[in-house]
Amino acid sequence: MNLTTQTPLKLNIENVFMCPVYRANDPRWLYLDKASDRIVLKSIEAHKERRKEDKTRAKIPNSYHSENLWQHSEFKPFAGFVMQQMWNILSNQGYNLEAKQPLLTECWVQEFPIEGGFHDIHIHGNNHMSGFYFLKCSNKTSKPFFHDPRPGKLMTDLTNREPKKVNYSNSMINYPVRPGDFIFFNSYMPHSYQHHKGKERFRFIHFNMQAATLNNIEGLGKK
Ligand SMILES: [Fe+2]
Repeated sequence: MNLTTQTPLKLNIENVFMCPVYRANDPRWLYLDKASDRIVLKSIEAHKERRKEDKTRAKIPNSYHSENLWQHSEFKPFAGFVMQQMWNILSNQGYNLEAKQPLLTECWVQEFPIEGGFHDIHIHGNNHMSGFYFLKCSNKTSKPFFHDPRPGKLMTDLTNREPKKVNYSNSMINYPVRPGDFIFFNSYMPHSYQHHKGKERFRFIHFNMQAATLNNIEGLGKK
């Protein structure tokens, strides 16, 4: 059948099941870069110690990863701020948040080693919103990638004819970032970080939030 001879219908397009990515630049939190210096150093030392005990560990990890930051007083206002933003986003998306409470489940500072680093594609299970705040980055450092979360598309995908354009055939998208950038996204969005050669330092805060039921929050202290 010669498809080119068929008259195209004038179709109305309805975009359903959309995957939003929210971005803003807010330099007010960049003072946390200095506050995170000693925390990153501690993560580097902790990796060395763990490797002394277990030589099967990589000498250089793909990323240095801190403990949860809210235990440090300088980071408490930031934790409250990002929780509020993510809560607002979930509410604006149409979710019923009655009888739910925001619970920041993770908030880490991550720095790629000077030898180079990356993050493989992953999601954060049992969370509803996630985000990044960039402390040290440039056009020479890594970028966050987001991947299409629809398994049906992945299983049947065709080759993208114009991968540099944003269109319906994309299976991933990346964003260049600068210090002070926030990115918020639903936790079902798979994400990764492009391999970074370590020419400059790359550091960001990564956080996850659950819209938790009140019973779950009350139970946390009893475990
Ligand atoms: Fe992540």
